Amino acid sequence: MDIHITLQGKTDLAGQIYRQLRAGIVDGRLPAGERLPSTRDLASQLSVSRKTTLDVFERLLSEGFLQSRPGDGTFVADGLQRIPVSAPIVHRARPTALWESLPAALSMPEFGSTPPLDFLGGVTDKSRFPFEPWRRCLNHAQRQQARGRAAYHDPAGEQELRLGISRYLAFNRAVTSNWQDVIVTHGAQQALDLLARVTLNPGDVVAMEEPGYPPARACFTAAGAKVISVPVDAEGLRVDLLPKEARLVYVTPSHQFPLGMPLSLDRRLALLEWAQNTGAAIVEDDYDGEFRFDGRPLESLKCLDRFGLVAYVGTFSKTMFPELRVGYIVPPLSLSGALLKAKQIVDWHSSTFTQAAIARFILDGDFAKHLRRIHKQYEARRDVLLKHLKGPLAAWLEPVIPAAGIHLTALLKQGLTESSVIAAAREQGVGLYGISGFYADTEPRQGLLFGYGGISEEEIEIAMTKLAGVFRSLE
Ligand SMILES: Cc1ncc(COP(=O)(O)O)c(C=O)c1O
Repeated sequence: MDIHITLQGKTDLAGQIYRQLRAGIVDGRLPAGERLPSTRDLASQLSVSRKTTLDVFERLLSEGFLQSRPGDGTFVADGLQRIPVSAPIVHRARPTALWESLPAALSMPEFGSTPPLDFLGGVTDKSRFPFEPWRRCLNHAQRQQARGRAAYHDPAGEQELRLGISRYLAFNRAVTSNWQDVIVTHGAQQALDLLARVTLNPGDVVAMEEPGYPPARACFTAAGAKVISVPVDAEGLRVDLLPKEARLVYVTPSHQFPLGMPLSLDRRLALLEWAQNTGAAIVEDDYDGEFRFDGRPLESLKCLDRFGLVAYVGTFSKTMFPELRVGYIVPPLSLSGALLKAKQIVDWHSSTFTQAAIARFILDGDFAKHLRRIHKQYEARRDVLLKHLKGPLAAWLEPVIPAAGIHLTALLKQGLTESSVIAAAREQGVGLYGISGFYADTEPRQGLLFGYGGISEEEIEIAMTKLAGVFRSLE
């Protein structure tokens, strides 16, 4: 008698057969001692190759679902725990109350619905990425990988990349470090997670900017911390309003997320003094500060820190692209040991292949060349945006002029709501994004975040002209 197996499509045939046989055995439809057809017969019944059925049988034999009796055939094994066919599946495993109630860190944009002129934030311009030199770096990484013995590596990251990051930070971001201080992470997000793990006890207070970066808030909340929102003004974080009991302060000093103003030097000094007095640690998230357009760069908190309280966090998500998932921490040395243990516990270490390729990209000078080129492009885009925001759109929008970064925020005037502007712009093929979702505890201001990483100057011109029409139609 033929065994009942149905195959769909032409892919993963072995997987389909394996899953159906295993399900039949587990739920008891194929009882212990039942003889299975030979691999040859099964292959001909299902019109698949003999190799496919052989692979399936070998896997089920190695997992103990089948037993082979040489010269006799293959049988369903004895003594397997069965789940009765009729038993409904109940999903009883539950996350903790904390995880159950935790909101998603960030809602993802809907797939397949990208408007033709899109100001989505957080994206970079891949069309300008130097893929040819990058391919050379990938090839180098592959050759390097093929040479060594397969082994787990240092949780801190590959020496070459840490060296590259340390040199880059010294030159570009005025952050002094030894390469041994740098810890490579899976993006800035993992850096935040590791820092939360090692500095916070459940119930500890974390202070962060309001409005602020929701994935950072989610990360601290998931660590069991109580996150307190502290307002920002034109100079950035209101240091005078920090809660005394905060164990950790999360800030974006180069380019406040999402509003865009830098933290003034006075506030930087005040924040450091406050932290020295309270002993709180500071996370300096420098996620896109390399794109600095106006004036002299302000000193990083890290370089002003004389008390070992600042953990500096950076990322390649904006300077290269976010899919790489590579970031880094330059922590106070007093946190290094704990961070390395945490990194090892979480994922052992980041991919050495990607690390080797980025290291080559930096050390060969391709990264610096790429940064110089896109810096010019982003600056030109920002200028076009500002020309419109300060000109034809000034009646409706008030830009917060950032000194750095690849997005800028403009506040809506005249009682306009984000949702009405966003909906009307969508009709015209312009993708706009509001800022109200970045407020956690206070009445949101109404405004728009213009990401210019993924939209060209020419497209910005067209989009902003359309936008003026949208505003007029809303009046
Ligand atoms: C404030 C802030 N921090 C960090 C990041 C980057 O995170 P990651 O390196 O995990 O991609 C972003 C990305 O948009 C951001 O807006």
